Amino acid sequence: MALGDLDGKVALITGGAGGIGQALTRAFVAHGMRVGICDVRPDGAEALARELGSERALAITADVADPAACAQAVDAVAARFGALHVLVNNAGLGMSLVRRDHMDGKTRIEDVSIEQWQQFFATNASGAFFMAKAAVPRFRRQRWGRIINVTTSFFSMLRGGFAPYGPAKAALEAWSAGLAKELAGSGITVNVVVPGGPADTPMVPVESFPDRDALVRPERMAPPMIYLCREAGGAVTGRRFVAAHWDPALPDEAAAQAAGAPIGWPDLAQNPVWPGGRPKDG
Ligand SMILES: NC(=O)c1ccc[n+]([C@@H]2O[C@H](COP(=O)([O-])OP(=O)(O)OC[C@H]3O[C@@H](n4cnc5c(N)ncnc54)[C@H](O)[C@@H]3O)[C@@H](O)[C@H]2O)c1
Repeated sequence: MALGDLDGKVALITGGAGGIGQALTRAFVAHGMRVGICDVRPDGAEALARELGSERALAITADVADPAACAQAVDAVAARFGALHVLVNNAGLGMSLVRRDHMDGKTRIEDVSIEQWQQFFATNASGAFFMAKAAVPRFRRQRWGRIINVTTSFFSMLRGGFAPYGPAKAALEAWSAGLAKELAGSGITVNVVVPGGPADTPMVPVESFPDRDALVRPERMAPPMIYLCREAGGAVTGRRFVAAHWDPALPDEAAAQAAGAPIGWPDLAQNPVWPGGRPKDG
């Protein structure tokens, strides 16, 4: 177990009872961190917290689509562990909510209800904003904070039959790029981590991918996030890491170089037609 500069750091992980959330929670605790496991489903978070022990884990039932619940979740973690250092916005709804066979690309606009569109944007995009809105004042006061947003592959964002999941994740990706710039120099970093392909979690239907060994292991999400949480990770912001490309055999810096790129699509943002030339803060 590697402790060092992560020992005692406090994280809040949304969607903490899910496939990736559980893997992250276990990895963070194994590195000496304390974790608020936030999920809309109480059972999984409570069982995991019981297993890891109350010194290290706290289950919080909260719907990230509810701004008041997000503020309460942040306060509850800080009250229990005395601080908050890391926010991982990992909660998400998957396309199975719309169609179980969505991986076959069959979903059409007629399949998506207005309520589902709103629910996906509320959870997969707005939820991260609500959580960050609650956490950033604390991070600013301590001049130390890590925000890590879980989006998805660009392929899924742009794929036909993948709305509202893809577009909501694209919104989260774009906002992450802007927030990283807004918070530059504050001691608060903002980065994105994605699996890199379908991962072996409940979100990905067994019928679509019966060979689970061919999928990305949820545990692979942990090494890039652990790297970002370290003191040295404070120098890294506005980056997007593909977990499946992270080679744990390499030193962190080399793995980060190979698996990382700027958040979003900055190459497409270079030439706005702008009176007086491109703004410097873009
Ligand atoms: N599994 C994949 O292939 C894959 C690929 C790319 C990105 N992702 C992203 O990774 C993240 C984790 O997904 P996963 O694969 O572990 O799925 P999962 O379904 O196992 O876990 C998602 C968790 O989020 C929780 N959740 C859903 N709505 C919530 C809400 N409103 N408030 C609080 N919690 C809520 C669920 O209860 C669940 O525990 C998601 O954001 C997902 O979009 C997953």
